[in-house]
Amino acid sequence: MSLPDYEPSSWTTSSNEALHVSLAEPEGAFTFNPTFTYPIFGDSEQIFGYKGLRIDLAFDCRSMYPFLGIKFEKKLSDDVKDVEKTILEFLPKETVVKDEALWLNKIEEENFEIPGKPVYTYQVDGETYKIFKFKLNDANGLKLHLRIQIFVLLFIEAGSYIDSTDDVWEIYAIYKCPEGKKESFVGFSTAYSHWKHPGTAVHDASETLELQFRKKISQFIVLPPYQSKGHGKNLYNCMVDEWLADDKVKEITVEDPSEAFDDLRDRCDLERLNGADFLNGVKLPIDKAWIEKQVAVHKMDRRQFERCVEMTLLWMLQ
Ligand code: ACO
Repeated sequence: MSLPDYEPSSWTTSSNEALHVSLAEPEGAFTFNPTFTYPIFGDSEQIFGYKGLRIDLAFDCRSMYPFLGIKFEKKLSDDVKDVEKTILEFLPKETVVKDEALWLNKIEEENFEIPGKPVYTYQVDGETYKIFKFKLNDANGLKLHLRIQIFVLLFIEAGSYIDSTDDVWEIYAIYKCPEGKKESFVGFSTAYSHWKHPGTAVHDASETLELQFRKKISQFIVLPPYQSKGHGKNLYNCMVDEWLADDKVKEITVEDPSEAFDDLRDRCDLERLNGADFLNGVKLPIDKAWIEKQVAVHKMDRRQFERCVEMTLLWMLQ
């Protein structure tokens, strides 16, 4: 071993750069790096003890059946972190390691069917995309969920796995659906229904009270190759439109939105509200009762509604 080989830095690899995520589509693969790996490899997002380390995590584009391949030029000693074991803890047990031919066989044998039913169809650049909705009590739905949940760790800051035994979760998955060809996974969102207390007065006065719910968007991801093409907007609007049409849903909330999600949400909410001319005839200062009524009509959380009012007023003043 030459002298520089003792340098700790020469044996240290950025886990964000070492990990290559691929989506294997019929016409080739999209490969991209994760934004975060600290939930898997630790806060410093570095792996010590390897030279030339490359971790390949590939997914079949329809079933998202995972494959893990790890390569390196040199390993410092047998005591360094076992990269394969570390990452496998976050992947489903069925993940195929190293054997690419076996992975391809498994995909073919399984002949995976996309779970749930399409609830919304849209076009981007002449391609058809469908949003499928399913729950975790659907066997294929659970399979798909367990395969894609690692994206929550890789792309959402402070993201964590949801309880996959809880049937209340609803998953919305976007697939590219080219005519007569294999579908490709694009992104997904998870949502939870919380029981919404109608207030003691309403609750106590009614004997046959219908249950009311607050929907919470928990996780929301469009995979990097598909970002900035309008998929986030279509997915968010699909979910919100469904809940606006459901009388049992009284409020729509978002769990810890990232800056990018806030931006998406603002644009979609502003478009919807202004499409309905929501400030028409409103006089300043805005009446508190009007705000309460609008928040209920649009099923928005109050802070988000007030943000939209402020942004619209600022835009009108320009
Ligand atoms: N051509 C060019 N630009 C376009 C087009 C188009 N056809 N369509 C949309 N855009 C632009 C939008 O104007 C927007 O621009 P801006 O960011 O400058 O305002 C941008 O693309 C994004 O809009 P969408 O394409 O609708 O959104 P996208 O599909 O990229 O999804 C999301 C946004 C979900 C935030 C995605 O970037 C992502 O998954 N990021 C990583 C994970 C993440 O942060 N998730 C949210 C965490 S919070 C939570 O989970 C509750």
